[in-house]
Order: sequence, then structure tokens, then C-alpha cells
Amino acid sequence: MRQQQSIKPWWAILLISLFASSVTAHTVFVYPGWRGNNLHTTGNMSATNGLAIAPNKSGNNESELLYTLGMQWAYPCGGMPVSTNRTKWPIKGGAVSFQPGWFSGHKTAFIYINLGIGTIAPNMSHPLISPFQLVGPTKDEYPGTFCLPQVPIPKHLDFLKVGDNATIQIIETALHGAALYNCVDITFAEPEDVPEVTPENCFNSTQLSAKYIFAMDVEGSASSITSSPLTSFAIVPLLLAGFFGLLF
Ligand SMILES: *[C@@H]1O[C@H](CO)[C@@H](O)[C@H](O)[C@H]1NC(C)=O
Ligand SMILES: *[C@@H]1O[C@H](CO)[C@@H](O)[C@H](O)[C@H]1NC(C)=O
Ligand SMILES: *[C@@H]1O[C@H](CO)[C@@H](O)[C@H](O)[C@H]1NC(C)=O
Ligand SMILES: *[C@@H]1O[C@H](CO)[C@@H](O)[C@H](O)[C@H]1NC(C)=O
Ligand SMILES: *[C@@H]1O[C@H](CO)[C@@H](O)[C@H](O)[C@H]1NC(C)=O
Ligand SMILES: *[C@@H]1O[C@H](CO)[C@@H](O)[C@H](O)[C@H]1NC(C)=O
Ligand SMILES: *[C@@H]1O[C@H](CO)[C@@H](O)[C@H](O)[C@H]1NC(C)=O
Repeated sequence: MRQQQSIKPWWAILLISLFASSVTAHTVFVYPGWRGNNLHTTGNMSATNGLAIAPNKSGNNESELLYTLGMQWAYPCGGMPVSTNRTKWPIKGGAVSFQPGWFSGHKTAFIYINLGIGTIAPNMSHPLISPFQLVGPTKDEYPGTFCLPQVPIPKHLDFLKVGDNATIQIIETALHGAALYNCVDITFAEPEDVPEVTPENCFNSTQLSAKYIFAMDVEGSASSITSSPLTSFAIVPLLLAGFFGLLF
């Protein structure tokens, strides 16, 4: 049987390293802050009867899963369990940098950044930002980095303290609405233990831009939708527009 295994790079969350002890003066390094390599796609849906995640029936290890569409489609953390090599991240919030275009289908994408609290977070239900729309150059794969230099910790989470563990989750939706997931496990640290955020480790590539997402009521009543379905359908509004900067 032909082994179907491909590597599909999509994005890497890049967080500023806080291993201060291993940082020499003026050396700031960015490292791929993620739970681990989850860029694998194995098998295909005809072998799994349409399942995106399934055991390899012809294999001899039932806990070895096939990810027929790619691991990163698996909620909540792209098929990766909690890691033990945690990254330190500022207790007041900090930089999150990622590469959104390593996988096709993201000419536009909605981006969510959430927090899960605890060493093994029970959920990823604490949004750190309002979701926004990222605009890329093409529906095909594209290079480029996007960085939010100061993703904040919301006020209602101010009970978090230095030494607490958490998980940062990034979600990127594709044009068709399905979403990719990626996580990094962190331990909160004092801001001064964080290497400086610089144009080298946190930047926006010129071909990437961001927009606010907002919603409007669907015009007209249910009856008017019934009487003119085409018109109503045409204006079903998910309006995506300007003014992004104030979000952060
Ligand atoms: C943790 O270890 C995995 C496996 O070696 C590696 O791929 C990943 O980049 C590491 N993550 C961090 C945040 O260091
Ligand atoms: C799908 O996987 C099965 C089992 O691994 C294999 O026999 C088949 O050739 C694959 N089909 C395609 C279209 O790759
Ligand atoms: C399933 O397991 C078999 C036996 O270990 C292996 O030969 C095959 O490549 C696996 N299939 C996939 C799609 O990885
Ligand atoms: C089966 O696969 C799991 C997951 O990859 C692995 O942790 C485990 O060691 C494997 N067991 C055997 C007997 O190979
Ligand atoms: C944070 O996680 C590490 C394992 O990654 C663990 O050793 C440590 O005890 C945890 N800290 C807290 C406060 O739970
Ligand atoms: C999510 O986890 C938090 C702890 O981080 C907990 O307080 C909250 O009840 C959980 N929410 C749900 C919907 O389970
Ligand atoms: C990237 O663009 C966003 C949206 O305009 C902005 O909030 C952020 O500060 C920019 N990042 C950098 C490093 O300038």
C-alpha cells in the first residue's frame, strides 16, 4: 500500500522567546512557538469513509490516527496534545506573530486569538482580541508574516499571575469557512523577562492587511424575504470593512 504522507506547511505561531538565561545581550530571537509540528496530512477520505480523523484500520496501532485533511483542521489545537516545553509570555500580554498563508484558501481569513487557562486548559473560550479579517494577496499559498505586537489580557482575566500556565490558540478560517487551529503553551512571566519586540521578530509583510469585521441586521422582515428571496439573499450582509487599527 502506498504511504500517503505529505507535509503541508501552513503557519507557525512565532512568539518572542523568554528564555532570558539563554539570551545574550542584544540578541533577540524569535522561535516557532507551537506545541509541535502539526503540518502532517496522512491518508485520504476514501480510506476513512469520509472521516477527517480516523484510526489507520490497516495499521497495527489503533491509536495512530490518520488526518486526511491535515492535522491543523482538528479543534482545538490542530491535533497536538499539551506540550511540556512551555514558552514564557508577558503577564500583561505580548506579541503574537504568525504566517497565515502557508496553506491555500486564505485570500481572506478571519483570525481569532483565544486563551485557555491552566496547565491543561479545560477550554479555549477566552478571546484575547476581537476577531478580524486578514487580507492576503491570493487564494493560493503565499509567504508573509503578520504580527500583533501587543495582544492584551482582558480585564476580567486580571486574576492571572506570573507563573500561571495557559495556552494561546490561533484560529484561521478559510474562504469556505472551515478553520485551522494552532496552539502554544505558555507560562506567564514578568514583562522585563521578555526580549524586546523588534522589527526583525515582529513585523507585517506588505502584502498582508487587516480589516474590521462587523455585522448588520438582515434587511426586511421574514415575509419580505419570502416574497423576494433573491434580493434578500443578495444582500445577506456580512460586511467587512476598514478601521482596523483601533482593535488592538
Ligand atoms: C516544543 O517541542 C516541540 C518538539 O520538539 C517543538 O516542535 C516545538 O517547537 C517546541 N515548542 C516550543 C514553544 O519551544
Ligand atoms: C486512499 O487511500 C487508500 C488506502 O490507503 C489507497 O488504497 C487509495 O489509493 C487512496 N486513494 C487516493 C485517491 O489516493
Ligand atoms: C497504515 O498503517 C500501515 C501499516 O502500518 C501502513 O503501511 C500505512 O502506510 C498506513 N497508512 C497511512 C495512510 O499512513
Ligand atoms: C501507537 O501510536 C501511539 C501514537 O502515535 C504511540 O504513542 C504508541 O507508542 C504506539 N504504540 C505502539 C505499540 O507502537
Ligand atoms: C506549568 O506547567 C508545567 C509543565 O509544563 C508544570 O511543571 C508546572 O507545575 C505548571 N505550573 C503551574 C503553576 O501549574
Ligand atoms: C472554560 O474554562 C474556564 C476556566 O478557564 C471556566 O471558568 C469556564 O467555566 C469554562 N467554560 C466552559 C463553557 O466550560
Ligand atoms: C500589523 O497590522 C495590525 C493591523 O493594522 C496592527 O495592529 C499591528 O500593530 C501591525 N503590526 C506591526 C508589527 O506593526
